[in-house]
Amino acid sequence: MKEKEFTSINHIQTIRKDFNEGILMEEQCERDPMELFERWLCAALEKDSHFANAMTLCTVAEDSMPDCRTVLLRDISYSGFTFYTNYNSAKGKQIEHNSKACLLFFWKELQRQVKIQGEIRFLPEVESDKYFASRPFESQVGAWASQQSKPVKDRQTLDEAFERELKKYSNTKVPRPEHWGGYVLLPKNLEFWQGRTGRLHDRIKYSHGEKGWKMERLMP
Ligand SMILES: Cc1cc2nc3c(=O)[nH]c(=O)nc-3n(C[C@H](O)[C@H](O)[C@H](O)COP(=O)(O)O)c2cc1C
Repeated sequence: MKEKEFTSINHIQTIRKDFNEGILMEEQCERDPMELFERWLCAALEKDSHFANAMTLCTVAEDSMPDCRTVLLRDISYSGFTFYTNYNSAKGKQIEHNSKACLLFFWKELQRQVKIQGEIRFLPEVESDKYFASRPFESQVGAWASQQSKPVKDRQTLDEAFERELKKYSNTKVPRPEHWGGYVLLPKNLEFWQGRTGRLHDRIKYSHGEKGWKMERLMP
């Protein structure tokens, strides 16, 4: 049997874009990579105020299968990168089994990428409470209605679960579910990537050791 051909996307082999939006030299790099990250995130937010804080979170499952998905960075605090999710989700179980994880930001307008490797910890409950209370009502209710990552029979079943929770909380404050809250990834390695012409990109890697942060340039 002939393999199916997806001819409408043949042109992706020839898509080329020059990388000329910026450069990254050692003397431009703060000693503390979190400061450089903050500067780059601010620049990215100016270009894309809605999704510049979206990051790919990579974790590893118990059977060693890597997994990843997009989550939103909500803070840089407790010395790391904070995001919120369902602790019983696939990612929650994977983090419970192996707290090592990786984050990836891609800011296409700036031709920049940042990779962060580290260990994940629970955020203090008081922070999760504060953040949950700040979410829109529908999102709070959604956290009760959805057993994230579990199979569901159909859309209607999900909508009905949401309606049930909506009714339950129509006149009361929605409490934070115990299974929903924040994580913080404590960085050990951060790599800042800036696209350059001729594919000779800039890559500056920070690694944390006994003497603090070490910086080195990597080949592209
Ligand atoms: C732009 C974007 C932002 C997202 N932000 C979050 C988030 O902050 N927290 C979250 O749990 N899921 C978020 N999601 C959904 C996740 O990508 C994912 O579908 C969900 O967390 C279940 O992942 P899991 O089954 O691997 O645990 C986001 C998806 C997109 C596309």
